[in-house]
This record gives sequence, structure tokens and C-alpha cells, in this order.
Amino acid sequence: MSDVSIESPTAFGTAGAVQAGSRFVRACLRLPVDRTPVWFLRQAGRYMPEYMAVRKHHSLLEICRTPEIAAEVTITAAERLGVDAAIIFADLLLPFTPMGLDFEFLAGEGPVVHVPVRTADQVRALRTDRIDELGYVSRAIEKVAAHFSGPREDGDELGIIGFCGAPFTLASYMIEGGSSRTYVETKKLMYGDGVAWPMLMEKLVTVLAGFAQQQVNAGADVIQIFDSWAGALSVSDYRQYCLSATTELVQRVRAMGVPVIYFGVDTASLLPAMSETGADVIGLDWRVPLDAGWKSVGTGCAVQGNLDPITLFAPEQVLKARVEEVLAAAAGRPGHIFNLGHGIVPGTPVENVIQIVQWIKEYNTP
Ligand code: CP3
Repeated sequence: MSDVSIESPTAFGTAGAVQAGSRFVRACLRLPVDRTPVWFLRQAGRYMPEYMAVRKHHSLLEICRTPEIAAEVTITAAERLGVDAAIIFADLLLPFTPMGLDFEFLAGEGPVVHVPVRTADQVRALRTDRIDELGYVSRAIEKVAAHFSGPREDGDELGIIGFCGAPFTLASYMIEGGSSRTYVETKKLMYGDGVAWPMLMEKLVTVLAGFAQQQVNAGADVIQIFDSWAGALSVSDYRQYCLSATTELVQRVRAMGVPVIYFGVDTASLLPAMSETGADVIGLDWRVPLDAGWKSVGTGCAVQGNLDPITLFAPEQVLKARVEEVLAAAAGRPGHIFNLGHGIVPGTPVENVIQIVQWIKEYNTP
């Protein structure tokens, strides 16, 4: 059971009351915690033998679309690692299907959208009225929430994280047709088509807000918005072409009564603009020292991060020093959630991930 109820009408629009019984949610709200909460980007994934065992029998999309399996993968990872939050197993690109865009994941290549979106007519044809087809994600969240309801051994409640992409990052996959290094097609549409780009941003906000609402209704305590590739933008372009749509999405999700974590990679220069979205927490990548990043977003935000995920391949003393460096930079200020600066990569030793959780549990925040 949650032990704290915060009346916070200013923080959460009309929804008002937030149950904040977990140290994870409390940290998102910059409230004092007994110790730094910790979870990991991509904590369920190919580095983990339990996930690979499931993956042997099911494709990535099958796992995402089968609530029992998605919930099991989510729960197994959170319990194996001993973290303070579980992120629902899903993928950024799932909303493409009800929008009318076919895609698949090809081994070694990542996502492929068969007919990339390049014209205003194609944007016009994208559907925003079939969000209900994503109900399998909320059914998985319901199962995870039921499993983790109530306090754990240490009296704390595990946080449940729902997520979606940010408009720019999702648009980049739609327009490029997959991953990209240069974002030429995305930027061509962004700079060159004053009709298609804003229409695409608006449609994505509609779909993503609806998707987030389903996840909140199902029991997500927090929504993380992934803008993984926003770092490809200059500050001017981010402000001119992305900030208003992203702010609209962040504000709509906050009005649902949950804190929002807004995350991107290679964002050191974008951090002040990203914090203008009003997100409660900004996710930092590892290239910026945590205290410098926190300064950039301002004291009105919590921060999440920001260990280099590849440090998990380093010898124990190096790993420990880097973990302590992150904790020291946070200096025990309320509003730090320990995480990596980006996702765990395949091949990462699971025991090192578990070791970090142990260190954080032992670390005395001053
Ligand atoms: O544990 C968790 O973090 C939850 C699961 C999760 C997945 N995708 C499952 C997945 C999450 C949070 C995502 C988000 C996601 N999906 C992002 C944003 C996160 C980030 O890294 O910045 C992005 C960019 C995507 C799109 C995507 N999905 C790509 C580019 C790829 C291929 C790259 C790769 O790692 O292979 C995926 C595939 C994917 N999504 C995998 C997993 C576990 C790995 C492939 C597999 O299991 O077959």
C-alpha cells in the first residue's frame, strides 16, 4: 500500500492527487527518499539469459503483443536485478501498426518500415483512431501491476513504468524507414514541408497521448517518453520543429496524474530546451557529468542517469568508481534516479548489473 498521498494540483493539472508510496515515484517528484532508486534502460533484453530463452520461441513482436509473455519478461528482469522499477516490455514502434504503417524487426538490421512516409498525402493517410488496438500493452501492465501490488520486503513499492516515443524520434523511424546516421530524409521533410511536418507531429501527439492514457489507466505509475535521437538536432531546430509538439505530449501525460520522464541521447546542448517541456524528470546520457546536466535542466527537474552502459564491461574497481562518481555528483539531492545513460547492450555481464544495484543499496546518501 502507498504510505504517502500528495495533493499536488499545480504539479499535475486537473488530476491532482498522486499516490507516491515508492521511492522511485518519490524521487521523480523530488521528494526525499531513504536511498537512491535504481532501474536500467533495456533491463529486459538480449544480455539476459532468461529473455533469450523466451526469445528462442517467440519473435520480438510476439512477445510485445502477448500480455502474458510481455508481463513475464518484465517481471523476471525486475526481480532478477532487484531494481526499484519495472519498465513494461514493449517497443517504441508498436503504435505504427494502428496508424497504418507496416514494419518488422530484421535480425541484425533493427526495425524496417516497408513504405516510409515521405509526402503530405502519406501523412494525411495515417490513422489516429485505432489506438485501442494497442490494448495488449495495457493488459500486460495490468498483469505486472497485479504481480507487484503491495510493499516488497523492504517496505517499498516497486514502480511501474509505461512508455512511448517522442514525436521526433518516432517520425524519424517513419520517414527514414529504419535507423539512420544522418536523418537526411527526416530533416528534408522537417525543413521543406510546412504542411506535412506539423501534421505528422500533431498526429503522433494524438496517438501517443492516447497510448499513454491506456497505460496509466492500466496501472503505470510513471510514463517515460523516449526521444532517443533528438540529439541529432541543433538547438534551433529542436526549438523550431519539435519543442511545441513534445511539450504538448508531456503536458497531456502529466494531466493524467503521473510524472513524466523525458529521455534523449547526446542531448547536452538540448537540456535547457528539453526541460522547457515541463517534464518532471530529464534522462541524461553519459556524455554530460550528472551535476552539469542537472544544472542545465534546472533545479525544478529531477534527473535520471547516467552511467555509460559500456562501463558494465569494465573491471570491478573501474565500474565501482564510476557508479560512485554518479552518486557523488547527485550529492544526495532529492530527485535523482540512478540509471544508465542509454540501454544495456547485448553481451553485458548480468552479474555486473546486479552488482551495481547492490552498491546503490549499500551507498549512504549524505
Ligand atoms: O527492458 C526494456 O527496456 C523494455 C523494452 C524496450 C524495447 N524497446 C524492447 C526491444 C524498450 C524500452 C524499447 C524502446 C525502444 N525501441 C527505443 C528507445 C530506447 C532507446 O534505446 O533509446 C528504440 C529506439 C526502439 C526501436 C528499436 N527496437 C530498435 C532501434 C531496435 C533494434 C536495435 C537492437 O537493439 O536490436 C529494437 C529492438 C528491440 N526492442 C529489442 C528489445 C529487447 C532487441 C531485439 C530483440 O530482442 O530481438
